[in-house]
Amino acid sequence: MKPLIAANWKMNKTVSETRAYFERFLPLVEGYDAADVLVCPPFTSLQAAREMLEGSSVALGAQNCHYEDAGAYTGEVSLPMLKELGVSFVIVGHSERRHLFNESDELINKKLLACLRHGVRPVLCVGEKKEEREAGLTFKVVETQLRLALSGAEELLSRVEVAYEPVWAIGTGTPATPEQAQEVHAFIKSLLKELNPNAEVRVLYGGSVKPSNAKAFLEQPAVDGLLVGTASLDPESFAQIVKALE
Ligand code: 13P
Repeated sequence: MKPLIAANWKMNKTVSETRAYFERFLPLVEGYDAADVLVCPPFTSLQAAREMLEGSSVALGAQNCHYEDAGAYTGEVSLPMLKELGVSFVIVGHSERRHLFNESDELINKKLLACLRHGVRPVLCVGEKKEEREAGLTFKVVETQLRLALSGAEELLSRVEVAYEPVWAIGTGTPATPEQAQEVHAFIKSLLKELNPNAEVRVLYGGSVKPSNAKAFLEQPAVDGLLVGTASLDPESFAQIVKALE
């Protein structure tokens, strides 16, 4: 399995900024095939990103979706809409969706199953808050999030990516240590094996990943990729992260 290096732009970049980004980013990673690369722009930039990515091996992802195909859900975006824009991955259960927008494990499960129904790969995010880690609850929180989100998806587990993103490491400039990531990733992998012994699932680390620490995470045996926020907004720094193992 190649590592997957994914960019989550969150609520950043207009259409023109998206075009300018790919003009700089794509030449920097052209021909580099030691990692799979995924970029998840905001919905409004998907069409522009798709045009820019034509002929490149960089995959296009969305940051969210609704679980119904269509209907009276003002402000929401469905998987058929995303697929027509060339989206092949959707981030599901990001901590900002869980904690700022009150997404429940049940809702996240519905979104994840909808992705699988449509042949789109969900990138399921899990991770504990600071106070949960301090209370020794990290494994319990991560296990609960995984079991609830993946309920009914066991057979199709090979079509899922999991991202471990400790909430306290997101956007804080203070990442987990590579050893802390390895410990939780190994736990996640053992749980995934229990759910489906035959599935190969990539487990990505996210939370204050930068060019200076990307290699150390990727060298951990249970780290199969990275999910990058802030440092993915700059094309040079994201390209350095993509090529961290070069
Ligand atoms: P940062 O890289 O800005 O910490 O964000 C991580 C993240 O939430 C990616 O989904």
